[in-house]
Order: sequence, then structure tokens, then C-alpha cells
Amino acid sequence: CGIVGFVGEQNDALPFIFSGLKRLEYRGYDSAGIALAAQGGIGIQKARGKLAALGELLGAMPSGVPCGIGHTRWATHGRPTDINAHPHTDCHGEIATVHNGIIENFQELRAELIALGHHFLSDTDTEVIPHLLEEYGGAHDLEGAVRTAEKRLIGAYAFLAISSRQPDRIIAVRRTSPLIIGLGDGENYLASDFSAFLSATRQAQVLENGDMAVVTPHTVRIMNLAGETVERPIMTVDWDIRQAERGGYPHFMLKEIMEQPDVWSDCLLGRIQGDRVVPEQIGLTPEYLQRVKHIQIIAAGTAYHAGLIGKSLIESLARIPVNVDVASEFRYAHPVMEPDTMVIAISQSGETADTLACLRLARELGHFTFSITNTVGSTAARESDAVAYTLAGPEIAVASTKAYTTQILVLTLIALALADIHGHPRPDLVRGLLQLPLLGHQVLDVMEPVKDMAERLASGHDVFYIGRGRDYALAMEGQLKIKEISYLHAEAYPAGELKHGTLALIEENTPVVVIMTERDVADKTVSNILEVKARGAEVWGIVDSSLPVGLPIDHRIDVAVDLPELSPVLAAIPLQLLAYYTAVARGEDVDQPRNLAKSVTVE
Ligand code: G6P
Repeated sequence: CGIVGFVGEQNDALPFIFSGLKRLEYRGYDSAGIALAAQGGIGIQKARGKLAALGELLGAMPSGVPCGIGHTRWATHGRPTDINAHPHTDCHGEIATVHNGIIENFQELRAELIALGHHFLSDTDTEVIPHLLEEYGGAHDLEGAVRTAEKRLIGAYAFLAISSRQPDRIIAVRRTSPLIIGLGDGENYLASDFSAFLSATRQAQVLENGDMAVVTPHTVRIMNLAGETVERPIMTVDWDIRQAERGGYPHFMLKEIMEQPDVWSDCLLGRIQGDRVVPEQIGLTPEYLQRVKHIQIIAAGTAYHAGLIGKSLIESLARIPVNVDVASEFRYAHPVMEPDTMVIAISQSGETADTLACLRLARELGHFTFSITNTVGSTAARESDAVAYTLAGPEIAVASTKAYTTQILVLTLIALALADIHGHPRPDLVRGLLQLPLLGHQVLDVMEPVKDMAERLASGHDVFYIGRGRDYALAMEGQLKIKEISYLHAEAYPAGELKHGTLALIEENTPVVVIMTERDVADKTVSNILEVKARGAEVWGIVDSSLPVGLPIDHRIDVAVDLPELSPVLAAIPLQLLAYYTAVARGEDVDQPRNLAKSVTVE
């Protein structure tokens, strides 16, 4: 979910909150709402569906109110309905709250409050917050009530509270879920991430876990769990607001796919000198790299797929063993890790709850923790021993594209730095990295055939992706992309594994996408292609252009791969475009697919 707050003296809170919500819509978009606080009462509007539905109701809200909060929701407790949309209020409509995260003990609190005479309207966990605040006198002393109520809440969350009797302040609490204060001139802002207030200010204070803040038009007071005032550094955000706009493309996803070659240049800039990767430029020291004996990668979703490619690169180039685990599994798996294991968390947002929990677990176990993230100042960046930024700029489409390929690039840099220090230097690959932006542009220039393939897939039900080695990791990302935005049933298999069960699903005309950039195993993959063709499959190949003509595939899309180790980012492009054009052909909502959110800050 995304939350926004505005407190000022003169300016209307409403337009600011609505535009902030638009920027946070990637965090959830099944319903939204805004509450404004003025002497005399709380004005509130909320609506199920995309933000546009809320936009239609804004005319009914009072104007000239300089204090308010807003929310865009990704449902956890309770279906996405008008009633379950935030903000939620107390019985008298004097207090309103918005919340991101989960209150784990809400059922118990709800029963207690009902016994005290409180009346609940929604099925959400959030609604206990305004009622607790009411119970503790929040209408008159919001800060005191938040301090008392907050001690009763168990879970990982962030929330904002306003009161119509104190419409000059917002009280904010951060327990795990992200919350940032934007510092304006005679007004201040709150949001789940910077992008919500970049149009107004670049000065921000990131709340730490356990912080509570009292924000008025001219003051920000931050306190820790013990109630002591604490200082949080003021940082300047250097993201360009234009980067977060669509720039003429019909969808953010297409824009983000197309800008990848440029983004790769940004990601590589300054990190290579001559034939070598500069470890310090990726947050590491040669001394530390020398000591690394094992690596554990943890991540979720697309970042996990980048991790699988990282494993292959680090193991093959540096000969250091790597495990890769899905964060939600790793955290409860009682992991066994050797001493001198470097723990790498990969996360575009740097806020994925499961990934953060793994980072904390690794730190508790005494391991060196390293984050690869796209978000400066994110929790992952701040809580790790070291960090390398992917420098992809803001990624807005829910389906990750440029963040994924830059994650792979950073992993490649790590693999090459490790390889160098452990006695297996690969100057050819280091130099080759610098050619990737050019090759990326060339790949993008010849992607027309992907549209035909998308047309064909759009009218079907299933699609299978196969490959070997890193091509299998790519196949997994390809199938996730197409599932996420086109809702087709897709499965990825190691090419050689299909015959052990899944081959039974191949029928006449079943589409199979085969990825072939690993030259060493191309012959083996050809045998697997023949197996599916013998069952009637229609085979689309995403193929290293140096492989011979005459492969037994029906439709071939060539990718000019120079060095196979560097091919994943290039071969990712047709897979991303295939998902994109298929979703467009099916008329789906590309940037905001159903049921998903870009940043999942709940367990
Ligand atoms: C969500 C997004 C995915 C993303 C995953 C991990 O599920 O929809 O696109 O890969 O979270 O996000 P992170 O920010 O940790 O990379």
C-alpha cells in the first residue's frame, strides 16, 4: 500500500495528496481514499478500483483544507471494497488513519474494542487503529493517544493519523514498513516513498524502524520507541522527476524496456577501469572479496531470477559456491551457512518485507550483508553492511524490467571482481560489458518479430519456456513476466527436464519458447526441441545469432550475443517485449496488473 500526508498553512492538501497517490499507485491500486481534517470534522472520500475512481469523487470534498492523508491499497485483510478502503475513522468521525502493513493482533483488539462499545464498519485490520486512538483520547491529544495505542499493536506497519480537533498536525509511526518525511517551505509531507513528493521538495528525512513523528507545517519532531527525541539526517534526493514520467510511451513498462541500454551505461559508469572492475565502486573492498568463501543470495520475484543468473556467473567465473533462495522460504528454513558467507539481498525497492527479514537474520548470525537495490535510502540499503545501487532510475511498471537487467549487471561486476581477486581474471568480459549498451540498442532495433509471436500467444491459453543453464533462469523470468501482465498460463522448465513429466502437456500447436544463448549446450537443447516438436509444439527460438541456421525451430528471433556470459541482459529484452505485446494484444492493464503490487511490504 502507499500512504501520503500533507500538513501546511495555506495550500490545499487535496491536490498534493491526490498527485502523490498517483505516484504511489504502483504500491497497490485496488482501492483508494483521502481524508481531510479541519475544525468541525473530517471530510472523507474513498472508492474501490483504480485511483481514477477516487478522482471522480474529489469534487465533493471541501476545498482550502491544508491537512490530510491519503492511501492507495493492496488488499491484505478484507476484500477490495469501498468500505475496506482507507482512511478509516473512529466512531465519531473525528480521527482518521491510513496504514500500510499488517496488524497481527487486530482480532483480539477488535473484540476488546467492540466490548467497550465501538462499532466497526470494515473487515480490515487497520480499523482498530482509529478506534484505539479514540479510546485513548486521541481526538484532543493525538500524539499522546498514538503513543499509548502504538504499544498495543503487534505487526509490521506504518500509519498516519489526523484529528479534526488538532488539524495542524499529522502523527506518523514507522514499525518496519517504510515512511519518509518531505520537508517543504511552510508545509511538510509524508509518504511511503520519495516519488510522492519529488515535485514539491528534494529534502527528506527517512524514519527509522520504531520512530514516531509529529509533523506540523513548520516543525518535525521525531522520537524513538522510548519517547526520546532523535535526530534523523536530512538527505537530498537526486532523482529526476521527468525520469518518473512516461516520456511519450503508451506504458511505463515499454518505456522502461526501451531505456535499458542507457540505464546499463549509467549502471556501469565508473565501475570499470581498464580491464578490471573497481570493487570500491560496487561497495566492496579487495580485502573483503579475498576472504569470501561462500555466497548466499536472497530475493523475491524477479530479483530472485536475477540471483539465479548471479549464481551461475559467480560459480563459473570465480569458482565460489553460491546458494540462491526465495526470501519467504529462507527466513523460516533454519538456514545453515558456513562462516565467511557473504549474504547478498537483491531488491529493486529495498523494502520487500521477506527480503529485509532475511537480511536481519543474516546480520544476527554474524554474516557480512550486502544489498543490491535500486532505491537510495531504502531500508535494505541502510541496514546492510554494504550496498551497490543498480542506478536504473525509478521503475514504475509493476513488472520489473530495467531493474532486473541492472541487477544482473551488478552481479556480473561482482562475479568479475571476485574472479579477478581469486586468480581467474577475465579481461575480455570486463571489456565486453562496456559493449552491452550498444548491443542492447541493436537488439531493440530488430524486435518486430516479437509482435507476431505475441499475437499468436495472445489467443492461446498456455506457453512453455525452456532453456539450459542461465537460459533456464531466463526462461523462469520470461514465464513470470508473461503471467504477471497477460494472465496466460506459463511454465518454465530446464530443457532436459521436460521429458520427466511436463512433456505430457505438449499438444498440437502448444507454443514453446526456447532460449539458446549458451553455446556449449546448444546441441543438447536441440534434442529437447525435437522432443517437443515430435508432440506437435510450435517452437519459437530466442537464439544467439552465431548459432547455425537450420535449427529445428519454427520461428527464430536472433540476439546478437557477443560473449555468452554477458548474454542474459540481451536475451531478456525479447522476453520482456513478448510479455508486453501479449498483454497489449489481450487488452490487459500492462502497468498495473490485477492482484499484484510493485513493492510488497507485508510478509
Ligand atoms: C513484487 C513485484 C515484483 C518484484 C518482487 C520483489 O512481487 O511485483 O516485480 O520482483 O516484488 O521486489 P523487490 O523490490 O524486492 O525487488
